[in-house]
Amino acid sequence: MGGIVFDKGNQTYKKSIFSLKLPKTRISYHSPKVTNRVISTWISLIHFSYCYRAVEVSDYYSSKLSAKRLKQVYDVAPSRIRQYLNAELNHVLDKIRHDSIVLELGCGRVLSNLAGKSQEVIGIDASSSSLNLARETLVEINNSALLRMDVATLGFRDRSFDSVICIQKGISAFHVDQRTLIIESVRVTKPGGIALFSSYSDKFWQHRLNWFEAQARAGLIGEINHEKTTDGIIVCKDGFTASTVRADDFLALTSHLNVDVQIVEVDESSVFCEIVRLAP
Ligand SMILES: C[S@@+](CC[C@H](N)C(=O)[O-])C[C@H]1O[C@@H](n2cnc3c(N)ncnc32)[C@H](O)[C@@H]1O
Repeated sequence: MGGIVFDKGNQTYKKSIFSLKLPKTRISYHSPKVTNRVISTWISLIHFSYCYRAVEVSDYYSSKLSAKRLKQVYDVAPSRIRQYLNAELNHVLDKIRHDSIVLELGCGRVLSNLAGKSQEVIGIDASSSSLNLARETLVEINNSALLRMDVATLGFRDRSFDSVICIQKGISAFHVDQRTLIIESVRVTKPGGIALFSSYSDKFWQHRLNWFEAQARAGLIGEINHEKTTDGIIVCKDGFTASTVRADDFLALTSHLNVDVQIVEVDESSVFCEIVRLAP
């Protein structure tokens, strides 16, 4: 990639995947229709020291819950879960301005929706197979990029994005240090910009459990361990766990930052932590 100069304008490149060919590089750029405007954005935001960092993904997401299997998790969702997912997405879309540069952490399913509402969107995920599947959903979309990257060590410059989106309880699903995740997300958010994290409302516990049981019946996750599953934590017999980040947890995780924080419940299913970065 070094030495290539991208002219101004909006020419569309036929080549759909760009990879940085540096030693130990694990990042790639995927977009069915690549415009040099999007490439310029991506290159201007990336911090090149990142190219020497490794990307980790939890074993469960790399082996059991990647690509088509992760898609199936949403295919088996009962109607109340679909309502929750729509309400969660609509809440996020309401917060995005058309001129926003958006980052989605742990991406794929809703990336085309985010692209439709924003100027440009970059989705990152640690799983190559999930990124490849996501790429297929971005056909005809020319304002998106996908990068393989660890959410806990974001390879972007400070103050790069208007909105950073982490939905579908990514904050607990990633199994990274939650404080680090929030610090990194706020670091790459512009002053006045917003970082959005969603978790589950306690009112939604039984619906959430029903959905996980449907996933277990479909063989996507291990059998639920009902003795250990309680108080917002789902435990499977194969070791998989899914926990809940509650309002108090979000407030504690953000209390040391120079931010405005609002906790908002949506549809009696999601709890959002909405973090606005203050100047400077
Ligand atoms: C619960 S899914 C959420 C997917 C997506 N946000 C959605 O709404 O459908 C979690 C995603 O995070 C990815 N992931 C897990 N650990 C990660 C990490 N450390 N860095 C980046 N992505 C990670 C997984 O590969 C998976 O695609």
